[in-house]
Amino acid sequence: MPGLIGQSLGRYTILELLGEGGMAAVYKARDTRLEREVAVKVIRLEAFPALQHERILKRFEREARALARLTHPNIVHINDYGEQDGTPYLVMDFLPGGTLKHRMGAHLTWQESIRLLIPVMRALQYAHAHGILHRDVKPSNILFTESGEPMLSDFGIAKLVESEETQTLTGTGAGIGTPEYMAPEQVRAEDVTPSADIWAFCAVLYELVVGDTPFHAPTHTAMLEHILEVEPTPITQLGHGDERLWAIIERGLAKDPAKRWASMGALGTALAAWLLERGEHHDVCGAPIELQWLKPRGGTGSAASDAEAAAEPAPSATATAPARSRPPSSTPEAVERAPSASPDGEAARGSRSPLVLVLVVLAAAGIIAAVCRYFGIF
Ligand SMILES: Nc1ncnc2c1ncn2[C@@H]1O[C@H](COP(=O)(O)OP(=O)(O)O)[C@@H](O)[C@H]1O
Ligand SMILES: [Mg+2]
Repeated sequence: MPGLIGQSLGRYTILELLGEGGMAAVYKARDTRLEREVAVKVIRLEAFPALQHERILKRFEREARALARLTHPNIVHINDYGEQDGTPYLVMDFLPGGTLKHRMGAHLTWQESIRLLIPVMRALQYAHAHGILHRDVKPSNILFTESGEPMLSDFGIAKLVESEETQTLTGTGAGIGTPEYMAPEQVRAEDVTPSADIWAFCAVLYELVVGDTPFHAPTHTAMLEHILEVEPTPITQLGHGDERLWAIIERGLAKDPAKRWASMGALGTALAAWLLERGEHHDVCGAPIELQWLKPRGGTGSAASDAEAAAEPAPSATATAPARSRPPSSTPEAVERAPSASPDGEAARGSRSPLVLVLVVLAAAGIIAAVCRYFGIF
């Protein structure tokens, strides 16, 4: 939409086109009230049949409000939502550092790659705990601040711009954007859980470590088939990483969501342990890895349970036995919920002990009385 440059959308003056994705164009703009630069994402409503416009607009507004509530240091914040002449737009922080897509060929070491992605994992863990899935984790949705801190963008946008109708039209719901990072259950247009974000995150990690995506195919349809059926080449066979790092990534790319890491926290704990063993103690933002991922956080128990989950042997993605006995939960909150603080057995033991004490005292009193009677003391 080059015609927008120089125009105003509400209080935002459009300055230049930053980039275009499948369903939207992103512009650099000036917020004339706060006098600062912002990024404005304009959804191409014309890509949808006219009959659906009103419903899409309503849904867009509702979901934009939910997304605006996500506040995290590594999530691109949504500042405003507007609509002009039927064109909906989102106003976000402007990130001047480019995207991870642009940095893919930057020859980072394996450790640097993981240190770079740890804050992104934290952002996903936070969103999952708030019941929001990303659904479109990919290198072009990881942007950088001026000082090089990674910021995850476009939370839930894939859901926003997809309607049931477009899903039916494409037959799979996989017609929007690149399928390279799409989990098998998304390809099949099934309900998705945080597991789909874990898959996409591991696909990005694979690409950052190896320099190439885990799945390749000449056509869109062939790519979808590969995602559903073909196992990616181990990174070690391509001369990258080590067996342990591959086991961590492979578990994230298991075709069956139930065989993947149980949560972003469990994956993060495994990657943090891998980094610590190699003498890396801070992520790219300078946050202490051990404190964030491996030390139990009082009360919530989530770091402790993540550490337990991460300590489970990582099964091969092709193994037939499920990686965990608990079935995957459909709600992100349930996935992140901390385990019970006190196992049942312990609770029962705790309530039995006063009773035992009373019986012992009574028995002792009985024995003393019998001895006294025998010796005629009373
Ligand atoms: N907040 C932002 N700040 C700066 N540039 C951005 C921002 N959001 C998106 N962009 C740029 O706009 C491009 C298009 O974004 P988008 O429409 O989300 O498509 P995609 O994520 O598929 O590339 C991105 O690749 C990025 O270069
Ligand atoms: Mg994007």
